[in-house]
Amino acid sequence: MSRFDCQQPLPGAGFGGRLRFDGLPGAGALVAAAEAEPEALPRLLAEAGGLLLIPGMGDMAGEAGLLLRLSRLFGPEVENYRETGMAPNMIHPEVPEIFVVSNIPPVHRAPPARPEPPLTEDGRLPVQFPHRRGWHTDQSYRRPPPDISLFLAVVPVPQGQGQTLFADGTAAYAALPPAMQARIEGLEGLHASSSIGRRREAVLAGTPPQAPLAPHQRPQRQPLVRRHPVTGRPALFLCEYGQMDWLEGPIAGLEPGPHGEGARLLEALMAHLTQPRFVYVHEWTAGDLVIWDNRCLVHAATWFDAERLERVMWRTTVSGNPGEAYAGEAKSWLAA
Ligand SMILES: [Fe+2]
Repeated sequence: MSRFDCQQPLPGAGFGGRLRFDGLPGAGALVAAAEAEPEALPRLLAEAGGLLLIPGMGDMAGEAGLLLRLSRLFGPEVENYRETGMAPNMIHPEVPEIFVVSNIPPVHRAPPARPEPPLTEDGRLPVQFPHRRGWHTDQSYRRPPPDISLFLAVVPVPQGQGQTLFADGTAAYAALPPAMQARIEGLEGLHASSSIGRRREAVLAGTPPQAPLAPHQRPQRQPLVRRHPVTGRPALFLCEYGQMDWLEGPIAGLEPGPHGEGARLLEALMAHLTQPRFVYVHEWTAGDLVIWDNRCLVHAATWFDAERLERVMWRTTVSGNPGEAYAGEAKSWLAA
C-alpha cells in the first residue's frame, strides 16, 4: 500500500495531478517516504500525464539538499550546472544541481514581456501561441534532451502574475486530424539555444548569427512526434520562436526561414498545442513544487511586475531516459 496518491486532474485542466501524502507535513518527511518507495512518485507523474504538484515543500528552501534528493528519484542524472557551463551567478551556492531563476541579485533575470494585448477578448490570461509567446520544452537544443524538470517556489510573486503555463503534448497530438498526424510522422524540428543568434527575431532583423559554431553549440534535430519512453504514448515535441533554428529550420527538410513552409507548419502545430483546452495555468504559492515531464509537455513563463516584486524559484533538471531514438548517443552539448 503506497503512502502516496494523486488527485487528478489539476483544476481547470485535462491533465496533471496534485500529490497527496499520508504522513507528517513538511519536505523532510515526504522526501524520506518517497525514497523508501522510489517508484511511487515517478509512477504518479506518468499517470498524471507528466505534471505533478507537491504543495507544502517550503522547508526545501532552508535545506536545499532535499530538492536534490527528490530530483534523484526521477532519473539517473541530475544536472550539475557547475559542470555544464552555466553562469555562476545563476547556480545555488551550496547545491550546484540547483539553478536559480530570479529577478533579484545576483541572478537579475528579467521576466518575459507581457502579451499584447495583455488579456484575451474575454478578459482571460492569454495562453495560446502566437498571442502567448515563450512556449518551449527545456533544453531541447540538446541531444539527448532532458526528461524531467523540478521547479520550487521559494519566493513566488502574488497570484495573478508570474504563472507557469503547461500544455499537454499527448492530448494535442491525439486531437490532430489523422492527415496531419501522418504528415508530421518522421519530421524533425531543428532546435537551437536562444544564445546563438538563430531566434526568429534575430533572423528577421538580419542580425548575423554566431559563427562558426562549435560542435556542442550546433542546433539539434528532435522528432516532432516523440514516443514517451515510459507510457509509449506519442506527444508533440516542439518549441516556438526563441528555441528553434529559424535560419536552417525550423523543420528539417522543409523550406527554411520565418516565411517558409516549415514556419507555417510549426506555427500551426504550436497554435494547436497551446489551445486553452490543452493548457493548465499554475498560480504559485510559496512552497509549491511542480514537476513536469519535458518529453510530453511544453511550458511557458508569464510576465510579472519585476519593478515592484521579487521572485526566487529553484530548478533542477533530470535526464537519462530519453527513449530508444537516442540510444547510445553522446551528449551533444559537452565541448569535446
Ligand atoms: Fe523552461
